[in-house]
Amino acid sequence: MPKLYVDVVKVSRYKMPKIKIFPHHEICPNGAVIENLPGETVCEAALRNGIKIEHACEMSCACTTCHIVVRKGFNSLEDANDTEEDLLDKAWGLEQTSRLSCQTIPINDDLEVELPRYNINQVSEDH
Ligand code: FES
Repeated sequence: MPKLYVDVVKVSRYKMPKIKIFPHHEICPNGAVIENLPGETVCEAALRNGIKIEHACEMSCACTTCHIVVRKGFNSLEDANDTEEDLLDKAWGLEQTSRLSCQTIPINDDLEVELPRYNINQVSEDH
């Protein structure tokens, strides 16, 4: 039962992180600030709020269309796994703080993210 106690304490301390999304000319022209539900990825939170981040592989970590650049809060995130790192190498506009939004789960800290101007998807899929 000690494990359950720890989990209850963790949950009770959970602060719903906010994600600030900088303006993107097509996907989010005015920018937005959204809340992230527990365990939700940045991509899922954006889609739930009507921000149509591309996600060509349906968030299975097999493309780079959901690429984001984390401008604030990057160090609060868990490290990307090898598959995500390999995919990011193919992303347009790769930066040191790039992540795949479908693999990025904010923990407790707020994030600020930028959607790159382009991605490698040739045809936009309006999901
Ligand atoms: S949607 Fe394909 S890797 Fe995120």
